[in-house]
Amino acid sequence: MKQWFLFLALAGFILACGNSGAEGRLAASAGGGTSADKPDGEKIYKQYCVTCHGLYGDMGGGGAFNLRESQLGLEERVAVITRGRNAMTPFESLLKKKEIRAVAEYIATLREK
Ligand code: HEC
Repeated sequence: MKQWFLFLALAGFILACGNSGAEGRLAASAGGGTSADKPDGEKIYKQYCVTCHGLYGDMGGGGAFNLRESQLGLEERVAVITRGRNAMTPFESLLKKKEIRAVAEYIATLREK
């Protein structure tokens, strides 16, 4: 059930933003864009990750890793989010590179709270 909900939520999101991908990539390669253009890691986390990891990263739904105890560095987190790992979905085709980076930066803030 949960997976279906997630799938529908993601499908809706992709349909809604169907043509923003190319623009985003262009903006990224043009050197970053404005600050208003910077993806909001917290928002992305709440949209895509809470289903398994929970609001504070420690829910452990479906065996999800406790992000508060994660020791991974930024590049390693980016790699796990991009390619997935075991039961975790890869986000490569769902999020833009800079969105993955933004959410990878955001989850480090869960550790300190
Ligand atoms: C379908 C459930 C699911 C979703 C959605 C999900 N994760 Fe995960 N995540 C997991 C599972 C399960 C693991 C443990 C993987 C393993 O056992 O190797 C994990 C592991 C991780 C790890 C590795 C932690 C470590 O220290 O090893 C990171 C980082 C992570 N997730 C971040 C995210 C982010 C960010 C999102 C949202 C973009 C997300 N996850 C969405 C299930 C999920």
